[in-house]
Amino acid sequence: MTKIEKIVLSYSGGLDTSIILKWLQETYGCEVVTFTADLGQGEELEPARAKAEMSGVKDIRIVDLREEFVSDFVFPMLRANALYEGQYLLGSSIARPLIAKHLVGIAWEVGAHAVAHGATGKGNDQVRFELAVNALDPSIKIIAPWRQWNIRSRMQLLEYAEKHHIPVPSDKRGEAPFSIDANLLHTSTEGKILENPAEVAPDHVYQRTVDPVEAPDTPEIITIGFERGDPVSVNGKSMTPAALLTELNGLGGRHGIGRLDLVENRFIGMKSRGIYETPGGTILLTAHRGIESITLDRAAAHLKDEIMPRYAELIYNGFWFAPEREMLQALIDQSQAFVSGEVMVRLYKGSASVISRTSPLSLYSADLVTFEESAIAYDHHDAEGFIRLNGLRLKSWAARNGR
Ligand code: ARG
Repeated sequence: MTKIEKIVLSYSGGLDTSIILKWLQETYGCEVVTFTADLGQGEELEPARAKAEMSGVKDIRIVDLREEFVSDFVFPMLRANALYEGQYLLGSSIARPLIAKHLVGIAWEVGAHAVAHGATGKGNDQVRFELAVNALDPSIKIIAPWRQWNIRSRMQLLEYAEKHHIPVPSDKRGEAPFSIDANLLHTSTEGKILENPAEVAPDHVYQRTVDPVEAPDTPEIITIGFERGDPVSVNGKSMTPAALLTELNGLGGRHGIGRLDLVENRFIGMKSRGIYETPGGTILLTAHRGIESITLDRAAAHLKDEIMPRYAELIYNGFWFAPEREMLQALIDQSQAFVSGEVMVRLYKGSASVISRTSPLSLYSADLVTFEESAIAYDHHDAEGFIRLNGLRLKSWAARNGR
């Protein structure tokens, strides 16, 4: 085994990665560079710097990735209306390739040949980090302490922390904490009582949305502007991608939008139950479908919907940087060329509903569809032949079956 000289660690400053930092320093006896990504998790990042400094880290990287996260990862994914297993908006899945990209970039910069992450050996995130690193630089060694050390539970983790004088937040003493992952797109909560899918999630697991029952009794109507498939404004005000998602998170959270209690199938083979809160993402998915409804051709829209589950599964399984994801992305992006216009969405007690859509590029023809007298050449007799031909094989089939 060649000696590892330097490791770049994906470091949140939380309990797990603080322990991992110590463990890497002890186990490999080499310099560890920490990388902390600001993805809009809503946590202060300066404490992470202080903690890394206390552990003797010389090279501490804290990088604001919010705009890149939303413009280069979240929005491309939303163009596809991606949902895993019909419901999950992929908030954690889509953040991992971005973190991996920067881990690799920093490794290049500082001349490290190894990166480390704090994902456990049972989840999807380890797969996502590592497949992304493989695709970006096959020469980089990946260290996954959770799969290497003999700490096997949250309790043992706390013991290790105590032994090494790593401060344990008071609420994390004794009872193991929830496993939470948050960024601008979502908050995901797993573990503890949630591990029993029969248990109703207690109210305190929800962090960024109110209970729809407690939401305002008056609906709020907002207008979202789209250009080529991406949202660009709220109520006529142009915003950067991260600012726009932040704004919608605030609005959606207040109206209790985007809560999801889901049992999903992890890539590595087990079922897990989690609580998701995706307020802004849920509004955007609804609004995007609204603008697509008038700007996409039927066959184009249906083709998109056919490939969507496959595309979502690729992202869920960690294949963001794989050729097949890029191929599907090219198809999806091309479909968005005319997806521009404005959508009005009503936010009310947990629901986001489209109530109006307009576009200079609309394919909608009131003249064509109207129940009234119309100027457009549409011959009703054509429909008769159309139905007769489509019914032909059904008649043969029914006759054969003796009907
Ligand atoms: N189950 C979700 C996924 O695989 C979330 C994983 C991270 N969340 C967490 N609470 N640790 O995308």
